Amino acid sequence: MAPKDVYIAVIGAGGVGKCFLSQLEGLTKRFSANPSSPKLSLVFVSRSKKVLYSPKYTALSYDNLATTLADSTQEPLALPKIIDYLAAAPAKVVLVDNTSSQDVADQYPAFLSKGISIITPNKKAFSGSYKLWQDIFAGAASSGAKVYHESSVGAGLPVISTLKELVDTGDEVTKIEGVFSGTMSFLFNSFAPTEGTGGKWSAEVKKAKELGYTEPDPRDDLNGLDVARKLTILARLSGLEVESPTSFPVQSLIPKELESVASGDEFLEKLPEFDSQMEETKIAAEKEGKVVRFVGSIDVGTKQVKVGLEKFDRSHPIAALKGSDNIISFYTKRYGANPLIIQGAGAGGDVTAMGVTGDLLKVLDRLS
Ligand SMILES: NC(=O)c1ccc[n+]([C@@H]2O[C@H](COP(=O)([O-])OP(=O)(O)OC[C@H]3O[C@@H](n4cnc5c(N)ncnc54)[C@H](OP(=O)(O)O)[C@@H]3O)[C@@H](O)[C@H]2O)c1
Repeated sequence: MAPKDVYIAVIGAGGVGKCFLSQLEGLTKRFSANPSSPKLSLVFVSRSKKVLYSPKYTALSYDNLATTLADSTQEPLALPKIIDYLAAAPAKVVLVDNTSSQDVADQYPAFLSKGISIITPNKKAFSGSYKLWQDIFAGAASSGAKVYHESSVGAGLPVISTLKELVDTGDEVTKIEGVFSGTMSFLFNSFAPTEGTGGKWSAEVKKAKELGYTEPDPRDDLNGLDVARKLTILARLSGLEVESPTSFPVQSLIPKELESVASGDEFLEKLPEFDSQMEETKIAAEKEGKVVRFVGSIDVGTKQVKVGLEKFDRSHPIAALKGSDNIISFYTKRYGANPLIIQGAGAGGDVTAMGVTGDLLKVLDRLS
């Protein structure tokens, strides 16, 4: 039976965090109208330099929460203090990490071993060292705390839950392939569309940045590391002991000469000088009647994980992707030659927060 009272602590109130808090408020209200649902109390919320929490674990008000947090004069708590505070709570606690912080991720084993469950869209813990991965699940097993991270791959798309279910029901996953980055999806769907010619590479990167599809420095998308992190997570869930996101081939789309330029703006300024490299790749694909896409793949049998450019027939689902959508194909023994395909928005505050809220519902169902 689900516990009667559950305390929620939220670290990070940015794009995803704000949407999550709004979804949590709605869920708390809906639960309060149903006597058999747990009573959810938000007791802690923080940003990088601000914290708002209730020392006696009484529920914080959602009214003007963002302003109250911004105006808070409470002394920020270091992570060990947050662990102590939450571990002393007189009911079950779920920590929601809505940051991309490695420091927070490194403390998951400590939270979990104290019985604090974790839900998060943060990739860092699950794609860091293999030791951290093992410590996280050992910490959870030792206390019975739960840990879910659906939105760490494909935002709210049901990628991780689907993979887990394939594995847990005894299917044999042979290969996973897809477009795992909204930024890369947008860039290649515009640069090498299935119909028409597309623009110059540097112009498409500039446009993507202006439309807010890239990180402030587009090199943080073009280095492939974000995709490599997601592949690391899926490979580990498929049973491969991948040591880190840098332990397999990852193709960076940053020209060598621009790796060390000082700023993202200088990078964008100089990128047109290197357009011919990407143009040649595009033309080579066109000569075969194909288009080029930035994909990640895991061959489970041969234990090969890789991230980089691949050519696809124009009719292939990966080639036909639109906008900034993600697509993930699971090839398994049961599904045979036609993979199970998941496709849709792989970024955005509301859809990412939906994955986190969905994880909260799973934790509430499974906590006793
Ligand atoms: N946005 C998406 O579409 C998307 C999709 C899938 C996954 N994700 C993942 O979701 C997470 C959040 O993304 P986002 O877009 O919401 O990022 P964001 O807008 O940059 O927000 C991050 C929040 O975390 C806070 N923060 C950072 N370090 C902290 C620390 N040590 N202690 C307390 N608070 C800290 C920041 O504080 P300040 O407010 O003070 O800066 C900010 O409120 C990331 O892991 C991201 O990879 C995002």
